[in-house]
Amino acid sequence: MSFRLSLNEEVAAALNEQIRIESSAAFLYFSMASWASVRGLTGMAKWFRTEAAGELTHMGLFVDYLNDRDCQAKFATIEAPSCEWDNPVVAFDQVRTQEHKLMQRMNDLIDLADKHNDHLTHSFITQFVPQQIADTAEADDVHDRLSLVGGDGHGLILIDQELGRDAEGH
Ligand SMILES: [Fe+2]
Ligand SMILES: [Fe+2]
Repeated sequence: MSFRLSLNEEVAAALNEQIRIESSAAFLYFSMASWASVRGLTGMAKWFRTEAAGELTHMGLFVDYLNDRDCQAKFATIEAPSCEWDNPVVAFDQVRTQEHKLMQRMNDLIDLADKHNDHLTHSFITQFVPQQIADTAEADDVHDRLSLVGGDGHGLILIDQELGRDAEGH
């Protein structure tokens, strides 16, 4: 029996859907990076670009996994991401919503793998979990810190610099 037969159809469809979700997350981050870049928020722009690259890496890992299971990856249409935010707090509110959704998605994928007794897929998904938890917590944290400084330009510049250093450390 080939691996193609051993990967459940519903599981394969969910993994393909994850390729679209990770790509769409990357597009949103690229869009936010560009938005920040033209507003003098260079550290934030760098941070968004690092996140975009991270999501593309995840996307590639899902493609590799499907291929390793002898399944061809299927690529779907990606909706255009938002490109306007009133301020960084609003942008980061969307970031944290997205990261929370991605975390929930990991949970759902593991549930689905378990439903089909697919321990291999369960184990594959597990590798994303610690990073996803950290990303979600970081998104919450940056959002809260931006909310604290409110409209204070000096505070915003400090957070911007911090995000830039953060991105370089990745
Ligand atoms: Fe991701
Ligand atoms: Fe992420």
